[in-house]
Amino acid sequence: MYSLNVHLLLSVFVLVNLCDGCAGRFSIFLKQNWECKPLSIGGETTNPSAMDLDMRIERVGRGEFFFSGTFFWNIDLDDSVLVEMQILRSHSGSEADYKLTPWSIPQQTFIEYIDTFYKDLLMANLGDCTDLPRYDSGYVPPWPKGTFNFTRCGIKGDGLPEVLVEGFYKVQAIITALPTVQQNITAIIQVTLKMF
Ligand SMILES: *[C@@H]1O[C@H](CO)[C@@H](O)[C@H](O)[C@H]1NC(C)=O
Ligand SMILES: *[C@@H]1O[C@H](CO)[C@@H](O)[C@H](O)[C@H]1NC(C)=O
Repeated sequence: MYSLNVHLLLSVFVLVNLCDGCAGRFSIFLKQNWECKPLSIGGETTNPSAMDLDMRIERVGRGEFFFSGTFFWNIDLDDSVLVEMQILRSHSGSEADYKLTPWSIPQQTFIEYIDTFYKDLLMANLGDCTDLPRYDSGYVPPWPKGTFNFTRCGIKGDGLPEVLVEGFYKVQAIITALPTVQQNITAIIQVTLKMF
């Protein structure tokens, strides 16, 4: 169940987080038919004293994009903390056109997520740009409270799909710890086909 979606999710995650590979140096080595540009990343929280995201896209040079910012986490992590992820696509970019794609992580506990997607793909690819906790041999409580930093995060670039449909992709993660907080994280990436 997990492994089925992971490849695609990683691909989109890589799109969100790097995108310098899309138009820049990686295109020389990979055979994708597309390039991409991150348009926005942000978060909405129902309770900024419990959880908050402050993230921005940084453009470096002519076409390299990175993410920098902070993620504040101030709740106890137990089985009541849930996470889910959806990927939507819009051909025109207009809000009304966004349709769900089959690439999603169904709602699961955040602890399950740490031992799967987070450990194997997210942290493995983010590497040293963040001080988010690492659990390379599996989750060991507690998850720390605090402000986690992201400094020019990129991705090593494995797992990108070769073929994508042109359009605007919206990646939306929702972390839910009711009744305390719900945190949404949304990124929008524009994918265009390469001109040869
Ligand atoms: C998060 O997204 C869900 C689903 O789109 C929405 O129902 C909810 O209101 C959003 N929450 C916040 C805090 O924006
Ligand atoms: C993030 O950076 C701030 C300011 O430098 C620091 O106080 C904090 O400890 C960092 N967070 C982590 C998890 O290291």
